Amino acid sequence: MKIFRDSAKLRKWARKRRLENRVVALVPTMGFLHEGHISLIERAKKNGADDVVVSIFVNPVQFGPGEDYAVYPRDEKADLAKCRAAGVSAVFLPSNESMYFGDHSVFVDEVSLSRGLCGAKRPGHFRGVCTVVAKLFNIVQPNFAVFGRKDYQQAAIIKRMVRDLDFDVKIVLAPIVREKSGIALSSRNTYLSAEEKERALVISRTLAAVKKGEVKTVSAVAKRLEKASLKVDYVECVDSETLEPSRTIKPGSSVLVAVYDGKTRLIDNVQIEDGPRKSK
Ligand code: PAF
Repeated sequence: MKIFRDSAKLRKWARKRRLENRVVALVPTMGFLHEGHISLIERAKKNGADDVVVSIFVNPVQFGPGEDYAVYPRDEKADLAKCRAAGVSAVFLPSNESMYFGDHSVFVDEVSLSRGLCGAKRPGHFRGVCTVVAKLFNIVQPNFAVFGRKDYQQAAIIKRMVRDLDFDVKIVLAPIVREKSGIALSSRNTYLSAEEKERALVISRTLAAVKKGEVKTVSAVAKRLEKASLKVDYVECVDSETLEPSRTIKPGSSVLVAVYDGKTRLIDNVQIEDGPRKSK
């Protein structure tokens, strides 16, 4: 497994791979890898990647003031071992200085899909995400890149960026990976105390109930979360494609939630497909 800290060297390596007609996939991450990330690597392989490149970079530009950039969990050694075990071809571990010149002044700003949900609650977040993802796409020039559906709004915004800026990169989305308990895997789960983790169970349970049609409104979702002492940042029902607010929970819509469990912000979501509702 190759380890690159220098973007020029990675660019050269990836270009050579593509010239050899190998399919190169990129899995962008912020590290502290868990089964969710490994599932993205596996998805890349299943979708025909000959070489999977994993980037590990806690991108300062996507964190707002007062957010958890400084304390975001990092474990390079464990991440490298996990990538090796997962059969990754190359890992990109850039420094802040190599990604952002001191006078970096060009950003990618998506101005429609990023207005609501996490975009409204975390101003500048998606500008940071789009900017770093655009840079990674330009460095690696992968045939495709894999993102998780847990960051549902992020995935929609990246697809829009690729469409609107003509990136020659296919976006593949992978399902949310959950613990047996139902909790969606996230590097931020590491912040949770045992008591907070117990409280977090209500998030996936409520979303599962939404999917089954047992909880029918966003206010009922919010009530359940609040009753479990979670602080609701937002609960919204949106059209799964456009992210436009949807008045009712119905097939083709998604319910997205963000809550504070103690000091930890957790997000989760569920898509309402035609099948389960119709078969009810
Ligand atoms: O989803 C993430 O971990 C990050 O937002 C990403 C896509 C790696 C960009 O920093």
